[in-house]
Amino acid sequence: MAVKIALGITGCIAAYKAIEVMRGLQKAGVSVQVVLTRSAAQFVTPLTFEALSAQSVITDMFQPGQNRDIHHISVAQSIQMLAVVPATANILGKFAHGIADDFLTTLYLSNPAPVLIAPAMNVEMWNHPAVRSNVEILKSRGHYFVNPEPGPLACGMEGEGRLAGVDVIVHRILDVLHAGQSLKGVKVLVTAGPTIEDIDPIRFLSNRSSGKMGYAVAQTALRRGAEVFLVSGPTELKAPSGVHLIPVRSAAQMQESVMKLYPEMDIVVKAAAVADYRPIETATQKIKKGSGEMLLRLTRNKDILELLGRDKKHQVLVGFAAETERLLESARDKLTRKNLDLLVANDVSAGVFGSDSATAHLLTRDGDVVTLQDQSKIVIAGKLLDMAQSLRIARAQRTRSKGRPDET
Ligand code: CTP
Repeated sequence: MAVKIALGITGCIAAYKAIEVMRGLQKAGVSVQVVLTRSAAQFVTPLTFEALSAQSVITDMFQPGQNRDIHHISVAQSIQMLAVVPATANILGKFAHGIADDFLTTLYLSNPAPVLIAPAMNVEMWNHPAVRSNVEILKSRGHYFVNPEPGPLACGMEGEGRLAGVDVIVHRILDVLHAGQSLKGVKVLVTAGPTIEDIDPIRFLSNRSSGKMGYAVAQTALRRGAEVFLVSGPTELKAPSGVHLIPVRSAAQMQESVMKLYPEMDIVVKAAAVADYRPIETATQKIKKGSGEMLLRLTRNKDILELLGRDKKHQVLVGFAAETERLLESARDKLTRKNLDLLVANDVSAGVFGSDSATAHLLTRDGDVVTLQDQSKIVIAGKLLDMAQSLRIARAQRTRSKGRPDET
């Protein structure tokens, strides 16, 4: 099946350059569904795009002949990417705040595929705090930006605001499309959320994990073409559609599901906050209060990550470390002690739980440390998967060259 993208074009003097972007993509074998906003159609005509793309161009929410299905949904489901070239300050604001008042903005909200945005506008507008903060919101959703370039602007001013070069934009779109396939054929197991250890039918021990980090990894891996297995403790989150969701409650249930899947997996990301202890026994009836103190006796749960490290064969194993002190030192220790390939260390004294962003340090066995300061969990998930995939490829190459007879 041919790769298809939606190319959104908004009302800006640089709209004519979108014709060249479309041609560049077509030459690379990409099928392009053009979506023009009403103001874009003041700068370039739908007819130009229709003639060059040999496809009808969408200009309106309710076009005659295109209402047999819910069109923005059917387009969203048929594309591998949404690119907006050029993007005005107006469209950045609407995307950032979820306003859906035309086809492009409605498509944006219904689109699960990656989004790339190439803005173009006057330099004062580009630097305005409102636009800056909208760009930050959109970046925190993991959207790709091809920033405008400095130079003379249509308004007569000089500065950053010109649409980036056509070749630069076409290459970035192709790179993102390629990344969309980078985990094709790879099986990724992600654990997420807290575990719950029951005391009696109404009381339990648990922790503050929201599951957001693990779900971000599952969603990103899915978008990159992986087959994703998500073993999740109870969370408020909706699993991304397309993942194999295995809901669990206790650490023991998580252990059982994970160990069963493990031999078949290529990358394993243990983002769950697994309880280290559980009550020695779970009362079948509600425990009645007594007059004095109550002693709750706990026993250790198995460390699932350690078991995985011990059994590791071809898998790339990624662990997490939540620390409140001596962050990197403890993280390095966990990396070797649990036989991991990659470890994500979070300083939880700053309150990462439940937040959409975090500061994470990604440590490898070679001693490399990549620090992502106050980044969204989607961005952290992307970097984590980049590094895990590089480790996987390097390991496969080493294995292949070991198996090859000496070349003389
Ligand atoms: N983990 C696990 N099974 C457990 C406990 C933890 O698989 N019973 C995994 C988590 O999923 C996480 C990593 O171990 O990837 C680190 O958890 P963390 O609580 O930071 O550290 P611990 O290894 O439990 O060590 P400590 O409590 O000494 O900090």
